Amino acid sequence: MKICVIGTGYVGLVTGACLAQMGHQVVCTDVDEEKISKLCHGLMPIYEPGLDEIVTKNRKRMNLEFSTNIEAGVKASELIFICVGTPSDENGAADLSSVKKVAKKIGRAINSYKIIVNKSTVPVGSIRLVSDLIRENASDFYNFDVVSNPEFLREGTAVSDFFKPDRIIIGSTNEKASAVMEELYRPLKAPVLITDPESSEMTKYASNAFLATKISFINEIARICEKIGADVKEVAKGMGYDKRIGPEFLEAGAGWGGSCLPKDSKALVKMAEEHNCNFSLLEGAVRINEEQQKYVTSKVEKLVGELRGKRIGIMGLSFKPNTDDVRDSPAIAIIEKIKAKGAKVKVYDPVAEENFKKILTDVEYCDDAYQVTEGSNALLFLTAWEEFKNLDFPKIKELIEFPAIIDARNCLDPGALKEMGFLYEGIGR
Ligand code: UDX
Repeated sequence: MKICVIGTGYVGLVTGACLAQMGHQVVCTDVDEEKISKLCHGLMPIYEPGLDEIVTKNRKRMNLEFSTNIEAGVKASELIFICVGTPSDENGAADLSSVKKVAKKIGRAINSYKIIVNKSTVPVGSIRLVSDLIRENASDFYNFDVVSNPEFLREGTAVSDFFKPDRIIIGSTNEKASAVMEELYRPLKAPVLITDPESSEMTKYASNAFLATKISFINEIARICEKIGADVKEVAKGMGYDKRIGPEFLEAGAGWGGSCLPKDSKALVKMAEEHNCNFSLLEGAVRINEEQQKYVTSKVEKLVGELRGKRIGIMGLSFKPNTDDVRDSPAIAIIEKIKAKGAKVKVYDPVAEENFKKILTDVEYCDDAYQVTEGSNALLFLTAWEEFKNLDFPKIKELIEFPAIIDARNCLDPGALKEMGFLYEGIGR
């Protein structure tokens, strides 16, 4: 099929490249000229394992191209994917301005029957808004259908998530459009749920809110575990064997961040409020997540005492491993808290440094883990990067000023570190 993807961020780029890999003719479009120019020169604007390979392969096969000409892309395609951002506005609600702009552009460009597929996370009912804007801006009466098709891709594993999804959700009121979408995803052999657009949109919010709540739940259990002498890793393992609970998203740590969980949780609280519903459970999950950042900071103080005048080395800046994304990364709030208490901060991340520099400049950026360690009074691990698990800890012991390790992702071996003479603090163990 001929497909136009509008918005070439994480979701749009992965979706476009994977659809091209499935054999479709795809044009990925964006208003960001720099991003499109990079992609046209074979450079990836984001770090996502496996993405580079499929983009290169499909550009060579001539079935994936990049363009800033959104209207031309729309005119030439049968399927149009909306994949633009819906960041939080000042009240925590989803900001729909990009979605609205795109809908108007599609309206101006529409020249034949098209299916518009919305992948952006939008408040329930937005499909109608998109339809209305397309119709109002169309130059003639062209038939079209708008369907909701939320994405569940995780950064860091987005390519494999695309090809092996747990489920495909299609929200549509039109049988023909549903059938086209079902056909599109048939090769993925995943369960497909065809439902109404409102339920589809709500499924996305409810899923992310549930995941956020699950992590906040285990983070609170972790705090209790510490008080009563239990190990949250063992507790989570024991809980995870229960099929009704499942082992995933039970890792206690520095809290949840990223481009989706924080913004979607706040937007759902707001949406509930606007409909006179009270989502106190989710409000609690958000509050617990904020508390977790203070909790991690207090762990540093527990080991090194007053932070004024101390040097704290931070290992990991991205909100999770295998991504360079730092949006709403717990590292931002935690580093700010540590600095506010008067400590100097040195940081290292294998890939997220450039993005983090756009947020925080007054920290010392280091080229590797050992440079961070030199002269530090404590090392605080905030992202569970694989390379951190394999560090030369005896060398770290030599370089560090005071042998304190705070493992806010429970990714290190406490027994081995204690044996080497480190003071160790994990989360809930
Ligand atoms: C999330 C959803 O998982 C995905 O389905 C949706 O499409 C987009 O939002 P992503 O933002 O890539 O994906 O990250 P995810 O893997 O969900 O992790 C979110 C945050 O939770 C990270 O900061 C991670 O470190 C944290 N987390 C995750 C935990 O603290 N413990 C866990 O057990 C799992």
